[in-house]
Amino acid sequence: MEESIKNYIKNLVRTAIEQSVGTHPSMARRKKYVIANWKMNKNLAESAEFFQKIICNDAVSVVICPPTQLLYPSHLFIKQQSKEIGLGAQNVHWAEKGAYTGETSVSMLQDVGCEYVIIGHSERRQYAAEDDETVCRKVKQAIKAGLIPIICIGESLKQKQLSQTEHVLSAQLSGALKDVTSSRFIVAYEPIWAIGTGQSATAEQAQQIHAFIRSVLTQLLGQNAEDISILYGGSANEKNVADFCSMPDIDGVLVGGASLDPRTFNEMIQLCAKEV
Ligand code: 13P
Repeated sequence: MEESIKNYIKNLVRTAIEQSVGTHPSMARRKKYVIANWKMNKNLAESAEFFQKIICNDAVSVVICPPTQLLYPSHLFIKQQSKEIGLGAQNVHWAEKGAYTGETSVSMLQDVGCEYVIIGHSERRQYAAEDDETVCRKVKQAIKAGLIPIICIGESLKQKQLSQTEHVLSAQLSGALKDVTSSRFIVAYEPIWAIGTGQSATAEQAQQIHAFIRSVLTQLLGQNAEDISILYGGSANEKNVADFCSMPDIDGVLVGGASLDPRTFNEMIQLCAKEV
């Protein structure tokens, strides 16, 4: 109870500050994120070491998404070290509870300290048959409970070669956001051809796509689209992160491989923070 009052006051103060900032209120309001998606990596000892080494920066929000079984210990590590790190899951189920063997509900995630959840990652679309409809159900369930969904979209190499990128992204977005009126979510643009390949998009290419994504969000949600953080993901690393974060419509990065080494990830946090 006390905690929720504290958070409420903190949010009121933050909103008041943000509304009084500068000439581009929507950009100022938009949060920058550096988010780690550990995928199926790290054990308990490795995650403890990671949280010990991580150095935050007030200019960006750092969120770590460990595998499910490491969520609660990660929550405890973060609390123990009083670090400003958000915790996110890599998946969630759309139902509140029930006979869904192996699945995890929104309330279970919140119970172990999660504030964020990745939804619709291309690896889950590929290996776990997720589609825009299931993504949408999950997004709604998460938003309803106050979890912040990180909605992943992205085209395959073939779709890119066939010049279908905009069509694919706009279908994925309108599918994921069908009947969604809230703008309390994050979008991650992760071109499939860039994930784990070492071949990231260029910052300019990504900026162009992000501007397109924002235009689709504006069609769907009106002016609130200006408040939605759109992250880039796909071979983001310490060498290219500053370029991405310096672009007007790229509000941070979702990092796979390069997030596993705390030194590299720290470097990425500091480099992105410099661009804010
Ligand atoms: P890589 O950074 O390893 O390319 O992975 C990106 C990703 O899938 C993050 O969700």
